[in-house]
This record gives sequence, C-alpha cells and structure tokens, in this order.
Amino acid sequence: MPPDSNVTGALPDPARLAALATLDRLWARGTAFLGCRYSLLGGAMSWVSERNLVAAISNAGGFGVIACGSMNPAQLAAEIAGTQALTAQPFGVNLITMHPQLDDLVRVCLEANVGHIVLAGGIPPGGAVRAVKQGGAKLICFTPALVLARRLIRSGADALVIEGSEAGGHIGPVSLNVLAQEILPHIRDVPVFVAGGLGRGEAILAYLEMGASGAQLGTRFAATTESIAHANFKQAFIRAAARDAIPSVQLDERFPVIPVRGLVNEGTKRFLRFQAETRDRFLAGELDKEAAQLAIEQFWAGALRRAVIEGDVDNGSMMAGQSVGMVTQEQRVSEVIAELVEQAVAALAGRG
Ligand SMILES: Cc1cc2nc3c(=O)[nH]c(=O)nc-3n(C[C@H](O)[C@H](O)[C@H](O)COP(=O)(O)O)c2cc1C
Repeated sequence: MPPDSNVTGALPDPARLAALATLDRLWARGTAFLGCRYSLLGGAMSWVSERNLVAAISNAGGFGVIACGSMNPAQLAAEIAGTQALTAQPFGVNLITMHPQLDDLVRVCLEANVGHIVLAGGIPPGGAVRAVKQGGAKLICFTPALVLARRLIRSGADALVIEGSEAGGHIGPVSLNVLAQEILPHIRDVPVFVAGGLGRGEAILAYLEMGASGAQLGTRFAATTESIAHANFKQAFIRAAARDAIPSVQLDERFPVIPVRGLVNEGTKRFLRFQAETRDRFLAGELDKEAAQLAIEQFWAGALRRAVIEGDVDNGSMMAGQSVGMVTQEQRVSEVIAELVEQAVAALAGRG
C-alpha cells in the first residue's frame, strides 16, 4: 500500500493530508538532499545491503545504501551496476575508511555516477574527502560528538549521521536520545540524519521535530522479503526482543574489544571463553600482547557472512539493533516504509 494513499482504503481525509504535508515539510531538507520521496535511509549492512535490498528501498521511495564492506573495487563496481539495473532511483554507497583500497573504491563510485558516498568507520582521510567532493558526489559522514560534527563539516561533509548505541553493528557509547539533544540544536549548516534503535514512525517524527532531516534504519530492513539474508537469520530477528541485542563484552581492559551490538548466541558465549583463554595464554607467557590482541580481533572474522549468508545463527555474528524487538514478521520493504510513514502521519493527524 503506497503511503500516500489511505491505509483504510477510504478517500484521504483532510486531516491526514495536512499531516502528510507537515511530514513532507519536516523532512524536506532530507528528501531534497537525497533526491527521494521519504527521508528514510536504509543503513548499510555488510552482506545484507546488496543490490536487491538497496534497490527495493529506493524503489519504495526511501534511500538504499550499498554496504561495500570488504568488497574489492571490481566487486563493488558489479554491485553498483546490478543495483542500477534494478532501480532508476538514487542510492548511495557506504565505504569503510579502513579499507586498504579506499581510493580505488571512491573512484569506482564516481565512475558509476553514484551521487552519495558514505564514509564510515572512523574519521575519513583528507584524500578520500577531496576525491569525493572533486568527483561531484555528496559526502555523508558519521559523527559521534558535536565537536567532531563541526570538524567534519569544515572538512567537507555535506550531511551527517548521528548513530546512537542502540544501533546494530559497531557502536559508540552514547544513545541516540543523548546525541540528538547534544547535536541537533547546534548543527544547521548540513542535514543531520538520526540512526539507532528506530522502529516506528512516531519516534522518527519526534527527531524530525528536534531538527533532524531524516532517519536511517538498518535492523527493520534486514528481515524484509527482499533481503537476501538466510531464512534462519530472518527468523532469529523476528523472534528476538530488544534485550537480546547486546554489545560485545570485553573481558580485560588490556585487550580492548570494539563494541558490536548483536543477538546473544553460542558465538558470543564462546567469545568470552576465548578472551579468557587468550588472556591466560598471555599471562603464562605463551603469547605476546600483540599476538593475543590479534587473536581476539580475529575471532569474529567472517562471522557476519556465516550468519547472514549461511544461516549459522548459533556461531555467526548476529549484528542487530535494539530495534529488533520491533521486527515481528517478514514484510516487504514497501510495507515497512508505508508503516513508518503512516505512524508519523497518524501521530500528526491525531493532534487535531
Ligand atoms: C547486520 C548489520 C550490519 C551492519 N553493517 C554496517 C556496515 O557495514 N557499515 C555501516 O556503516 N553500518 C553498518 N551497520 C549499521 C547500520 O547501517 C545502521 O546504522 C544501524 O543498523 C541503525 O540502527 P538499527 O539497526 O537499530 O536500525 C550494520 C547494522 C547491522 C544490523
């Protein structure tokens, strides 16, 4: 059901039309920036955000984003071409700044006329920022704090995403609730999109009213019909509650663990035991500190693919946001987007 029509099937009533117009006004800056109908980004999810899901989100009026993850330039070029074959609507590409071929990946995006490039996973290097800007694409960056938001804008970011610790995948320590209060009132130069734990339109509306230009959601799109994630992965999302999506636990401060939010499973329990064993081997002199740290960092190598593609939900990495509790059935992408828009519209219309 397209969100512009009435969910009841009746003729749109004036209150509903007025509410939709208000919503359009609230996120106008975001829709203009992204070039789409609704200012809802499908957050890039490695292995999940490939051509099918990305095209489905853009075709439904949102803004899909390809997760490049560890793809090489040729693989990314093929994924972009595959997405362009499935949609004529705009979409973006998310690149991880640590990727050893970052400059080549930026070039691939520019050659394929990708209009929006997201640089994620750390402060973007100056060379990549310049290349994106000189190539005519819009640059989207993540910011974990106000001071960094200002710095990123000065160095060329055209839009920012503030992602709270409720999100799935790699997370910072601060919730979206707090980040939004710290950052939204102060950043007016560029559109700011909010992310992390979002599952309903009323919440998105509240952030728009605080000054956000749109919202980015990952988890709610991961278990959609168009997502290529394994049926086991989708079922685990449908069954899980918010409290099941917890950050990875660090056992010993000498061996830092980057926090990743995901569903608890046998793998997360084994990870704790592995940290303890590795620390003991370090204390016994069997491993030096660097080797122990590397072993801990490599524990999850390939684990997201195992979960998403192979369906090993017991041992794979089940990255998921706290919003997973709001995934209650497999839905089409267009239904998820229609639901989010309708919830925001109903909330606005209900105010009279
Ligand atoms: C399975 C999964 C994989 C993700 N992979 C990436 C990634 O490769 N790059 C990235 O910038 N964010 C990644 N994210 C974060 C999402 O883009 C998005 O910001 C996040 O899911 C928003 O929170 P939500 O899941 O509560 O909606 C991932 C999230 C999930 C759930």
